[in-house]
Amino acid sequence: MKSLEIKELKENFIETISKEWMLVTSGTRDQFNTMTASWGGIGFLWNKAVAFIFIRPERYTYEFIEQNDTLTLSFLGEDHRSIYTLCGSLSGRDTDKIKASGLIPLFTPTGNITFEQARLTLECRKLYGQFLSTESFQNREFIEKWYGEHGHLHKMYIVEIVNIWVKKSQ
Ligand SMILES: Cc1cc2nc3c(=O)[nH]c(=O)nc-3n(C[C@H](O)[C@H](O)[C@H](O)COP(=O)(O)O)c2cc1C
Repeated sequence: MKSLEIKELKENFIETISKEWMLVTSGTRDQFNTMTASWGGIGFLWNKAVAFIFIRPERYTYEFIEQNDTLTLSFLGEDHRSIYTLCGSLSGRDTDKIKASGLIPLFTPTGNITFEQARLTLECRKLYGQFLSTESFQNREFIEKWYGEHGHLHKMYIVEIVNIWVKKSQ
């Protein structure tokens, strides 16, 4: 992998996150978990390049994010739809998703986890985490639409993008 500067990131992340999706991975070399996510964004806050993601507390990955200071957002590209589908429908609690998906872990110099299949990886450090609250919804219809029987309120994490990695061939 080679590193990129923030200013070299040219893509439309609304399209990328909503249509291509991403893997959120956290943990250590020995114990980590990954899951598919399609909600989140990239932006600028507190004078830092940041990403924000939304994770329901029932996800196994949530436990890893809580226990670690860092996480990665890995973008696999359209060719790996089946990996995204698997990592977004099975839980690491009862399946070895790495084995089942054929994902090949790669480690950044600081020990964060991404995958050989990733065309782009954002290596991130947690800055802020807060659960969404029903009282804060300005559009009350979203409470019924996205929560209740669909699951618990998400925890939002704002993370600083500390490194950007792309495949050497790109
Ligand atoms: C396309 C897609 C997008 C998803 N986006 C999110 C998301 O943004 N936040 C979230 O909490 N779960 C999301 N999920 C659900 C998790 O990926 C799914 O529950 C996964 O099995 C959790 O795995 P884990 O228990 O190993 O963490 C998404 C699933 C799919 C298929």
